[in-house]
Amino acid sequence: MCGIVGYAGSRQAGPILLDGLARLEYRGYDSAGVAVLSPGGGLCVKKTKGRLSALNELTDSGRALDGVIGVGHTRWATHGEPNDVNSHPHVGENGRIAVVHNGIIENYAEIKKFLRQKGLTFQSDTDTEVVAQLLEYYLSGGEDLISAVYKVLHRIEGAYALGILCADTPDSFVAARKDAPLIIGYGGNCNFIASDVTAIIKYTHEVSYMDDGEVAVVTKDSVEVYDALRRRVEKPRHTVDWDVSDAEKGGYEHFMFKEIMEQPEALRATIYPRVKDGRVVFEELKIGEEYIRKLKKIYIAACGSSYHVGMIGKYNLERLTRIPTETVLASELRYSDPLIDKDTLVIVISQSGETLDSMAALREAKSRGARILSIVNVVGSSIARESDDVVYTHAGPEIAVATTKAYSTQLAVLNMLGVYFAGLLGKMEPEQYDEIVAELRLLPEKAARVLADTERIKYLASRCFNHESVFYIGRNLDYALGLEGSLKLKEISYIHSEAYAAGELKHGTISLIEPGTLVVALCTYLPLFDKAMSNVVEVISRGASVVALTAEGRAGELSGTVEPENILTVPETHPVLEPSLGIIPLQLFAYYIALQRGCDIDKPRNLAKSVTVE
Ligand code: M6R
Repeated sequence: MCGIVGYAGSRQAGPILLDGLARLEYRGYDSAGVAVLSPGGGLCVKKTKGRLSALNELTDSGRALDGVIGVGHTRWATHGEPNDVNSHPHVGENGRIAVVHNGIIENYAEIKKFLRQKGLTFQSDTDTEVVAQLLEYYLSGGEDLISAVYKVLHRIEGAYALGILCADTPDSFVAARKDAPLIIGYGGNCNFIASDVTAIIKYTHEVSYMDDGEVAVVTKDSVEVYDALRRRVEKPRHTVDWDVSDAEKGGYEHFMFKEIMEQPEALRATIYPRVKDGRVVFEELKIGEEYIRKLKKIYIAACGSSYHVGMIGKYNLERLTRIPTETVLASELRYSDPLIDKDTLVIVISQSGETLDSMAALREAKSRGARILSIVNVVGSSIARESDDVVYTHAGPEIAVATTKAYSTQLAVLNMLGVYFAGLLGKMEPEQYDEIVAELRLLPEKAARVLADTERIKYLASRCFNHESVFYIGRNLDYALGLEGSLKLKEISYIHSEAYAAGELKHGTISLIEPGTLVVALCTYLPLFDKAMSNVVEVISRGASVVALTAEGRAGELSGTVEPENILTVPETHPVLEPSLGIIPLQLFAYYIALQRGCDIDKPRNLAKSVTVE
């Protein structure tokens, strides 16, 4: 989604803003722009449709912009097509105000009508322009900038992170936030705002997270933050514990490949601190044994890949804890009048911690009395801060739009929660507990073994990349795994693909299997291996071309049916953990296919890394 960066300092703002925007590219965008307060007074605004290279060309990489205070924006179009005019910053009628915005102003049409009646004219089709115009309207009524900002914030409805420049206040810019991410960065003799840390990590590790309703006035020497009632707020400062190199490609061609390769390390960082003396421990959790004993139900709410982690969680949490567990799409939960109450634990899973649908599900569940436990990667993100308990994954920054290492670490945490709850409830035999814990500790090493076999997967991808439709089939955990494998393929290669519970095929979908149809058969969940085999036979007998994935040691049973070079294997582990290994070949398969097809792997079309609109 849109990215914002703002700078107030003594260096030329343009190049810093352009560099920050480049680091936010991964969020997804279709146009970009910057505004700088010119030393002679007035605003200099440059914006254009397309990639940042176009804005770099227009501004000589920011060097053509004279000024030391400015804001920049990458836009992911919602209201109005991606074109130069609809790009941000938007400027008010008198040219005194420039605004960048992430989010949606829901009542923009009504405000636009009001302002038109007052004689103002609009240039763009965006919701954002009303903010710039309304600000100028209040300014021309005699308000000072901050009063005008508060008036606007009281009037607009929806979600926003805003960066505002005003020609009348040449030493500062203003930021405001509600339901869209915005952080403040302290750089010593300069200060920043940004949609996320990656934009400014090169300049500072010291940040504050803005809360809903807050307004910040940023100068080179100070940042003053006020709450919704305009009272001064002291913001706690946090130190970011990763470095600029973590958010760079480090010699790899794509972030996605780098992040796939980082999975052993990410798993280690997530799992190891939470296993002590052979027991799973979550020192960060405030919920205790008594609460868990009284739990009647678990709901898991998430979107996209995080939802797929939740699908595995449904099987495993119920299996291990015997607590009824339901996994729902966050975007559906809020409108489904869910049976959630104070005896329900709602687990929200989100890499970014900023997904609006997941946030809305969290709030809906909270309003019904549920306790919220979130599994989040981005420290200090909105979902983390609104949860009763947070378990952070330690995947490090994930830049590629298609999630890989965040998925793996979320899955590890969810499985560990299952083991932890089951252990407290006495639902597992000691041998079973010990076996799963031992296998959890072995996951990083086994993941590294899978990654050592990339050539084989690359070769297979070179034989499959021409297909235009693919089915992923599997039973139980393999079905949930297939959902993620299928999403990986479709989002980065644009091949149509679907995941089916293998047993469901014969109830309709099998009619689509014809000679040559590519089917990825997942046979890693060994308790159902034989059943999965029957489905493989079922599709092969209708002419499907099958790629199969199974555990080492079971490949022989498939080789009579599936071409041996079409069989991929992963090391054997405890059945509940098998998707943690099974996902890696599927990520690589999708990656190499997209590579063969020449796709923009890290920034697939139409997609954003963090979806902060509904
Ligand atoms: O940041 P989140 O985990 O809340 O994001 C949820 C989805 O938008 C995300 O998983 C999306 O499906 C990815 N593109 C999948 O690779």
